[in-house]
Amino acid sequence: MSKELKTVKKCRICGSQKLYEFLDLGVMPIPNGFLKKDALSKPENKYELACQLCENCGLVHLTNVINPKIMFTDYLYVTAQAKQMLNNLTHFAYQTHKNFKLDSSSLVCDIGSNDGSLLSLFKNLGAKVLGIDPAKNLAKIAKENGIPTEVRLFGLKTAKIIKERYGQAKLITAFNVVAHIDNLHDLLSGVSHLLSSDGYFITEFPYLLDLIKNNEFDTIYHEHLSYFSLKPWIYLIDKYDFEITGIQRRHIHGGSIRLIHQRKRPKKNIAKKTLNYLLSLEETAGLYEKKSYIQFAQEVLCLKTELLNMLTDIKKKKKRIVGYGAAAKGNVLTNFFGINNSILDYIVDSTPYKQGLYTPGMHIPIKPEEKLLSDMPNYALILAWNFADEIMEKQRQYTKKGGKFIIPIPKIRII
Ligand code: TMP
Ligand code: ZN
Repeated sequence: MSKELKTVKKCRICGSQKLYEFLDLGVMPIPNGFLKKDALSKPENKYELACQLCENCGLVHLTNVINPKIMFTDYLYVTAQAKQMLNNLTHFAYQTHKNFKLDSSSLVCDIGSNDGSLLSLFKNLGAKVLGIDPAKNLAKIAKENGIPTEVRLFGLKTAKIIKERYGQAKLITAFNVVAHIDNLHDLLSGVSHLLSSDGYFITEFPYLLDLIKNNEFDTIYHEHLSYFSLKPWIYLIDKYDFEITGIQRRHIHGGSIRLIHQRKRPKKNIAKKTLNYLLSLEETAGLYEKKSYIQFAQEVLCLKTELLNMLTDIKKKKKRIVGYGAAAKGNVLTNFFGINNSILDYIVDSTPYKQGLYTPGMHIPIKPEEKLLSDMPNYALILAWNFADEIMEKQRQYTKKGGKFIIPIPKIRII
């Protein structure tokens, strides 16, 4: 076990020590750590992966935190490569620019700005932009594309430097990054410091309600420190005098939630009704109770048995199986279930930089997507199940010629 690991002894939102561990996914490598062939013979760094519920505020979070420098200094997830993601952002930038009346004097800051994809859209609409991201490799791409970027982790310290250099922000965005941040109080202090009094803070993260309802256990991995429902999130933002003034549930990443925050105002909050409705859904789903998570963990173990039985049966019949989509979540599933190269011949993936590499832990080779049709294995297990529809649409020829898709989540389906 590495020294780079810190045990979480207190809830990162409310500080309570009443933490209940409900799911132990074992010890595995960081699921975005794809390997070159020559690294396969060397030992891999592996880290504990387990999840706990704060019985006080309802926050679900990992039991350990890996030093963020290990995970994010050279980061491999590039926004511009995910089509679904980019469509999502284009519409968002246009609407936000219009609705919040942004102009050439408005500074837009993006926390976890990645390759600058989102900020490029705001820049084209005429706003001033600034990216903040600790990944040097991605900041370099962003800067080459004309997006100024501070290579830092975001928090109060960074917020002070930015305000000093660039002034206050009218809009701060944080898409798919809040779950990565250990010190949420430092994040909110930073946002509060940097945002103008009439500014907006918009964030989007995977929604715990979807995760639990759809059995999406494989989205639990080292990078994602927290899994939010609204109740603990509101507890947090309330301490910094923010309120949620807009909410949208989204289909992306297996189900996400987008929240618009403003400083608390005396005005009537029209988002209140939706907020209360979602809180009641959370309550009904048992998101704040231990017993729901005990059941969730049992369902994950049932899925493991069922899928492994199915795959071994197929192998016994001398049929071939491959994986589809070398997603990080696929690496969690294959590592936890012990699905290795003796079950999956290879995994196809559309991302050029992943092709030719091997998956962390299970060492399954990654091949170009086109190989599916030329090779015609009997089954393709869709590991990137959030893109299952897009993938099956693209690969209609494969099914026409007799190939079958297996979708593992939320329930095992063969198509
Ligand atoms: P993600 O859910 O972590 O973004 O990973 C999805 C993976 O699936 C990514 O590596 C790209 C791959 N993929 C394909 O290979 N073909 C496709 O058509 C799509 C949509 C994704
Ligand atoms: Zn708590």
